[in-house]
Amino acid sequence: MAIDRFGRNIHYLRISLTDHCNLRCIYCMPEDQIFRPKAELMQDDEILQLTRLFASLGFDKIRLTGGEPTVRANVVEIVRGIAATPGIRSISMTTNGLMLARLAAPLKEAGLQRVNVSIDTLDPQKFQRLTRWGKLEQVWDGILAAEAAGLTPVKLNAVVVKGYNEEDVIDLAALTLQRPWQMRFIEMMPFAGPTDIQTGQIITAAQIQAQIESEFGPLEASGSYDGEARIFRIRGGQGELGFISSVTVPFCAACTRARLTAEGVLRMCLLREKEIDLLTPLRAGASLEELRQLILDAVWNKPWGHGLEDGYIPLNRAMNQIGG
Ligand code: 5AD
Ligand code: SF4
Repeated sequence: MAIDRFGRNIHYLRISLTDHCNLRCIYCMPEDQIFRPKAELMQDDEILQLTRLFASLGFDKIRLTGGEPTVRANVVEIVRGIAATPGIRSISMTTNGLMLARLAAPLKEAGLQRVNVSIDTLDPQKFQRLTRWGKLEQVWDGILAAEAAGLTPVKLNAVVVKGYNEEDVIDLAALTLQRPWQMRFIEMMPFAGPTDIQTGQIITAAQIQAQIESEFGPLEASGSYDGEARIFRIRGGQGELGFISSVTVPFCAACTRARLTAEGVLRMCLLREKEIDLLTPLRAGASLEELRQLILDAVWNKPWGHGLEDGYIPLNRAMNQIGG
């Protein structure tokens, strides 16, 4: 088991497969974002080697992220390899959904269990404004394909941005009246890139909840969390609502995560700049024992709490270079 100095058992690894993306969401990256050359990214076999290493340390839960993980060549085979790794019990993906109409069934067959699909509004024009390039219909088809393929329960993510989609949370929440989906609302967090938007146009989880309650009445609290999301239900609804208040009410005490960036760097806190390079020593021929020790030391030193309220913003990476 990998335990940090606060006694947290770190067993959940989010692996970014690529920093590339087929969208340019305004809160994530600039339109002219430059991506890393492929040679700098972990190769397929390196991803599987590192996954085996983490699994040997008790990591049992993997989420694949990006950029956009489905634009990675061989994504289905990478999923197959991770799903077959002894010790890995849970494997899911966070995706913008554009490729799911084609990939949902093959991903499921390869061993993927669930997806979280990003959808910030149900208005096609606003969707295009938020993502710069995105066609809402394509994402919707992707969500239905995920459900049909059994990548369930379907979870949807919306980042809420002042001036872009703050009224749209009502239509998004209404999806859960008829469908057994979990609709999650995420407070925007600040990173490098569009930092001004991220800090200046944030809508808090409390504001989002108030907006939804003004339409549907008081939400029923489940009293539980799903990961970082506080779970509620609209009275009589089939699905659930989740609120992720990373900025205003951090959930650091319950954090069990580490992140591996697409170029093989371990980041122990989303909102802290400190990182530990694993790919360079792996390529230089480090032994499994040396790599294990690097990971255990990084876990032991996992930070507690972010510094946003003190004005500290992690600026060494944009969101697509971390993976969310
Ligand atoms: N703050 C919060 N969430 C973000 N995402 C992208 N950028 C940000 C940000 N600045 C979300 C995406 C996706 C997930 C990977 O992270 O919308 O749902
Ligand atoms: Fe791509 Fe996700 Fe960033 Fe949007 S938020 S640009 S879909 S990586």
